[in-house]
Amino acid sequence: QTGAITLDPGYKNSGSCKSEITFLDGEEGILRYRGYSIEELADKADFLEVSYLLIFGELPTQKQLDQFENDIRKYTLVSEEMKNIIDGFPRTAHPMGVLSSLTSALTAFNPKAVNPHNEKDMYDAVCKTMAKFIVIATWTYRKTMGFPLNYYDNTKGYVENFMHLMFELPTGPYKTDKRVLDALDKLFILHADHEQNCSTSTVRIVGSSHAGLFASIAAGVSALWGPLHGGANQAVLEMLEEIHNNGGDVAKYVLKAKDKDDPFRLMGFGHRVYKNFDPRAKIIKKAADDVLSALGVQDPLLDIAKQLEQVALEDDYFKSRNLYPNVDFYSGIIYRALGIPTEMFTVLFAIGRLPGWIAQWKEMRINKEPIGRPRQVYTGSPLRPFVEKDKR
Ligand code: SDX
Repeated sequence: QTGAITLDPGYKNSGSCKSEITFLDGEEGILRYRGYSIEELADKADFLEVSYLLIFGELPTQKQLDQFENDIRKYTLVSEEMKNIIDGFPRTAHPMGVLSSLTSALTAFNPKAVNPHNEKDMYDAVCKTMAKFIVIATWTYRKTMGFPLNYYDNTKGYVENFMHLMFELPTGPYKTDKRVLDALDKLFILHADHEQNCSTSTVRIVGSSHAGLFASIAAGVSALWGPLHGGANQAVLEMLEEIHNNGGDVAKYVLKAKDKDDPFRLMGFGHRVYKNFDPRAKIIKKAADDVLSALGVQDPLLDIAKQLEQVALEDDYFKSRNLYPNVDFYSGIIYRALGIPTEMFTVLFAIGRLPGWIAQWKEMRINKEPIGRPRQVYTGSPLRPFVEKDKR
């Protein structure tokens, strides 16, 4: 594999790990799930199919996919007592904080899924997590709106249920435009896994202590929330809105982002690994054009995003630091066109990343990996004698 990292012999304590799930080449801008290119998967597969691929290692036959979807449907009912937990939050609570709490609470209602010790229990835990996470994730939105919480509709598809759970109101049936479902499928696929990013590493290290699957996923949700990670998709929209409200002067914001004394960064730009274009950003940028024109949506923020990209990519500061748009730069534009509120953008990232977290947790547990224990370089004081209070 080009760009494959070499593991130092002590890899068990070095913080890096072996994995068969996702291949990433930051120089070439390559991303593959189980050997399949992200471009082909985004174009030809659907989200549940890619979830199956990540978690079980192979693209499913139609029979396997139907079985997987039916087995997920067995667990889509979330315990009614969970509503007492969400009722305890203020409506102003950020959805990611509520989601992390609700995910952790799932442990209390599904003890068997906590630490599966055989293949069947592992499979059931996978299906339970896929089933319940998307429901509680949409409950966080319903809570902020003061709407009644919806139930998963087992007659609808997985991604179609996301829109049903989010927007169905007692006032009448909710029908989702197929183009919206196709856009969501593609976006969830593009977010599904990404090697050992911050939140996935969190899921693996929490799981390596044999904390259960729900507890590990809850920790991953918290890590993803940060604006340097998944929270960037919300921060990008807020940045674009600010630029728009300030006359659309993108050059001024590019200058701000270069100013060492200014903490402002161009959100949605740069990446720990991609020192070339993030392949997902390319696909999402095209999808943004397609979805907005298909839905007849004119969004000035898309034009601002493209101008910002153009100005930044011509600027030596960004070029010299290999700073390119990442997965978060254009995704929010599409979510906005689909009617998703900004505060929910990172929750959608979590729904997309869920199969990747599950796959990586499962791999780590099946490989019986040791408890994660990164080491450090000590830079503190050398040995020194204790000093009594009256002598300090
Ligand atoms: C995700 O890891 C993954 O795979 C993550 C992810 C996934 O799928 O899981 O891909 C999802 O998290 C994407 C990243 C989303 N975050 C953002 O868009 C936030 C804005 N980006 C930056 O904060 C930053 O680029 C990071 C956090 C993404 C990467 O940080 P690095 O690689 O540690 O870069 P750095 O902080 O060391 O910066 C290197 C230089 C610095 O300047 P100098 O000190 O060399 O003068 O580049 C500058 C930085 O100031 N820089 C930026 C910048 N990002 C880096 N300057 C302006 N704007 C930016 N966005």
